[in-house]
Order: sequence, then structure tokens, then C-alpha cells
Amino acid sequence: MPILKISEGSIRHAAELISAGELVAFPTETVYGLGGDAFNPSALAKIFEAKGRPRFDPLIVHIADLGALERVADLSSLEGAARRRLSLLAENLWPGPLTLVLRKQNAVPDLATSGLPTIAVRLPAHEDARRLIALSTGAVAAPSANPFGYLSPTNAGHVVQTLGEKIALILDGGQTQVGIESTVFDIQSGLILRPGGTPKEAIEALVGSVETGASSIEQDSPLPSPGLLKSHYAPRSPLVAHDSESMRALPDCAESAFLFFDGASLGAWLDGRLPEECAALAIAALCETGDATKAAAQLFQTLHELDRLRPKIIHAQLAPERGIGMAINDRLRRGAGNA
Ligand code: TXA
Ligand code: MG
Repeated sequence: MPILKISEGSIRHAAELISAGELVAFPTETVYGLGGDAFNPSALAKIFEAKGRPRFDPLIVHIADLGALERVADLSSLEGAARRRLSLLAENLWPGPLTLVLRKQNAVPDLATSGLPTIAVRLPAHEDARRLIALSTGAVAAPSANPFGYLSPTNAGHVVQTLGEKIALILDGGQTQVGIESTVFDIQSGLILRPGGTPKEAIEALVGSVETGASSIEQDSPLPSPGLLKSHYAPRSPLVAHDSESMRALPDCAESAFLFFDGASLGAWLDGRLPEECAALAIAALCETGDATKAAAQLFQTLHELDRLRPKIIHAQLAPERGIGMAINDRLRRGAGNA
């Protein structure tokens, strides 16, 4: 499959492919997406097929500007608090790593939303991504460009390694900035369905206190909650998530990889030893200073690197449970299969 560096020319080419029903992997500010025309059922079917994704797990539809929102979402029945939530969040946090769940417009095929009456919509901050969407059909369905259940891709190489054969084109825009997927927020219920790149605190500053949980539709559904599936974002090696204390108490082991949240925790574990004096297969810290935003940007990249070494086990330290640290912990717990 061709990989092209992002440029006006390659974006135009990619837009033509999407308009013709093909799949293109492209960078967003969060992770790389596997994009197809959101109005084309056969393109949507190709996305599920390429990812090996179950049809009950709905896709996020990406738009290029606020004006396109009503092409995919039906806002007519929104009232009171829900309408206020939408205008506050869309006006202040879009474009950005925030996905809003709204009522679906009939023009969008049911396949995009797995038959749900709701649709997840995102207006990404990445300018090249928005240009691609605007030049194609204006609405691009794009899950993260990884095989179902595996680590999300934060550079073009990750996409090539796992989905390369199945995609018409990969647009290479380098390493993604945020490094963790968008926060998914249900406008009607006011719940965070998936913690992500937009911190809970940023949402609460606009709309007041919000909870994290499953939407009422999901709770009523006999199917597993979309996106809240237990084993998700998982490396091939078994992952175990630890709080700081249990991480610090772990014995050194030649077959294990150790992923610390910050440099201080790594230093405390080393307890005077040099890293090269340890038996461990690999030792890493997500961020030397413990800045959660920087740590999130490194999370999937570092897990990909550790996973490539095929350790018997990857031990990972959880982040402090606030801000984007909540998204890091969500991914680590799901990767460990114990969310
Ligand atoms: O940052 C991101 O969101 C990336 C980039 C490519 O934009 N995309 C992404 O897509 O993470 P995906 O498919 O890997 O995750 C979509 C999430 C899933 O958790 C899915 O269940 C949830 O959004 N979702 C989609 N439609 C929904 C709906 N109608 N109701 C509730 N959850 C929904
Ligand atoms: Mg994903």
C-alpha cells in the first residue's frame, strides 16, 4: 500500500479515494484514523472488515466544520440542558479531541452507528485531517487505524505494521500530538462514555459536574457496551496495571518489561541501581517529570515498543487519577482486561 507524506497533493488524492469508496488512514491530533465515506455503506463495511471489528461497535463520524454537524446529527429534538451542553461544548472545545454523541440523521447509514439511533461526531483539531474531510464527502467515518482490540496507532509505521495490506493509502503526518483518543461525551445523558484527550475538568468547567459511565441505551442493550469492551487497547504481551505502591514492590525479572509513569517512580524502583544493572527486559518512564499530557502522548508509542520485545509480561504504573491521567488509566486498565 502506498504511504505518502502529507501535502496538499496527497490530501487531494486521499480525498478522491475516500469519495470513491476506498479507505485511507490519516493522522488526527489524537491517533491515526481509518477513514471511509460516512454516507457510503460499502465503505463502512470495508472499515469493519479491515479492522476485524464487530458490527455492534459503532464508528465516530468526523466533520470539517460546525456547519456540517446537521448533515449527520438531528438536532431538532434537543431541548433544555442538552441543547445548552451541545452549544457550550461545541463552541468552546471544538475543534479538538472531543466526540459528541447526538441523535443520528437519517442520511447516515445504520452501519455507521451499528443500528443505534445515536451518532458519535467529532470535529478534529488537526488541520490536514479537516482539509481531507472537507475535500472528500464532508463526513468521514474513522475508527482508530488498528486491528480490533490492539494498541492504537500514533504514527504511520504503526498503521503499516498492522493494517498496511488492507488500506488504499496511508497519509504520513508524523507522530500524533495528543496520543490518546478523543473523550466521548453523550449530550443527552451528560455522561462521559470514554475518558480521552479532553479532560473531564475541561468539560465540567463549561457544563458543571459530569459522571463517567455507560449511556442508558447501552445499559438497556443486550450487547456489550460500545467502546467499553473490556479487552481493548491491548498489547500482544499480557499487561498488568499497578498502582504506585504495588509497582514499586515488583521484583526485577528478566522476562518482564516495566513501564513507569514518571522518572521519580522509576528512580525509586531502581533504588540506587543503574538501569543496565537490572535484569529487566526493558524499563521505561512515560514522562520524566510526570506531566500527564506528555505521558499520554507517549503511551501507545511506548507500549508498541515494549510489545515488540515480546516480554512475558508488561507491568505498567497507573497515572494520578485526574485530568488526562484518567484516560491513560482507562487505556491501561482495558489493555489489562480489567477495566
Ligand atoms: O480520537 C478518536 O476518537 C479516534 C480518531 C481517529 O478520531 N477515533 C476513535 O475511534 O477512537 P474508535 O472507533 O476507535 O472509537 C470510537 C468510540 C468507541 O468507543 C465507540 O463505541 C464509541 O466511540 N461510539 C461510537 N458511536 C457511539 C454511539 N452512538 N454511542 C456511544 N458510543 C459510541
Ligand atoms: Mg479504537
